[in-house]
Amino acid sequence: MAFGWIDEQAELRRRAGLERRLRPRPADSPLLDLASNDYLGLTHHPEVAEGAAEAARTWGGGSTGSRLVTGTTELHTELERELADFCGFEAALVFSSGYAANLAAVTALAPHGSLIVSDAGNHASLIDGCRLARGGTQVVPHADPEAVRKALRTHDGPAVVVSDTVFSVDGDAAPLAAFAAACRERGAGLLVDDAHGLGVLGDGGRGAVWAAGLAGDGDVVVTATLSKSLGSQGGVVLGPAKVIEHLVNAARTFIFDTGLAPAAAGAALAALRLLRREPERAARAREVAAELHARLTAAGHEAVRPDAAVVSVRAPSPEGAVRWAADCRTAGLAVGCFRPPSVPDGISRLRLTARADLSGAQIEHAVKVIGETRP
Ligand SMILES: Cc1ncc(COP(=O)(O)O)c(C=O)c1O
Repeated sequence: MAFGWIDEQAELRRRAGLERRLRPRPADSPLLDLASNDYLGLTHHPEVAEGAAEAARTWGGGSTGSRLVTGTTELHTELERELADFCGFEAALVFSSGYAANLAAVTALAPHGSLIVSDAGNHASLIDGCRLARGGTQVVPHADPEAVRKALRTHDGPAVVVSDTVFSVDGDAAPLAAFAAACRERGAGLLVDDAHGLGVLGDGGRGAVWAAGLAGDGDVVVTATLSKSLGSQGGVVLGPAKVIEHLVNAARTFIFDTGLAPAAAGAALAALRLLRREPERAARAREVAAELHARLTAAGHEAVRPDAAVVSVRAPSPEGAVRWAADCRTAGLAVGCFRPPSVPDGISRLRLTARADLSGAQIEHAVKVIGETRP
């Protein structure tokens, strides 16, 4: 049988407690949501939904083609201009997803003969970018500027250091200033994924790179998703104009992919404008994270101190994590569950999202449910 090996793999996964299932979410879900990436609670904001609807009415259901053919509308360029301006970079380029943006940035900035230095905790999309790139990759221990320095010293020629700004699993931040200093010493580029920093860190949510004083630096390139704080869908690369022009000409996930859907561009633009008007949303997400962490640790849970809006709670085992998340769900609370292979260190966790729109009572209730359902 052609696909018999799939049954064997499925059985192994089931026995290890690593099976995954889709759970379609009803529009009127009664669950308290601490599982999504809607950090600022903007997905359902009327202005964001109207931004999507208005863009779909004006431009249609799809962008109609790849960006270099018919898929670039004036809405795309408006969004790119405003994203670049907000984050403090010369130029921006939007993609159909953050995943595609990461593949584009890593592959286009790591040509044949170059070195990529990649943090061990990086997101799968950065890892896949390294796998696809023509340059060679050295994976270095997590958040370790000395290891980055050492790796860079092994290579003459173009090099780029690749890292998340805020790591998706534990919610800890990368030492960006130290990474940038290590890069500067060797003339290397720094490419960072601010998926979990945009909208949460930096002045009014301008991101982790802004917070580190590196926005607009000619040697720094940033990627981000429009699907978390901006409550939409899509990805972006921000950087010097010459890097963005290079991506337009060289990045395969830009050239051979249909442009971002107008509704997604319209929603992201509306969210960005809202964030400019209401910068306190970013600080509130950080406040909620700190409160969630304080209450969880006071209740005896092992939780990582959050640097942004992701709060990670250690679970006893993959099966324990799955059961814990399922029991939370039964009790009306949606939480994320990370286990191998999505965790680099093999430790399973509950992953909680500190949404800016959670009330004190909701935070208290969530911590109570997590305590009552602990395996
Ligand atoms: C750190 C990080 N980078 C990139 C992505 C991918 O972005 P997108 O979902 O827009 O493809 C994600 C998750 O979605 C992420 O957590």
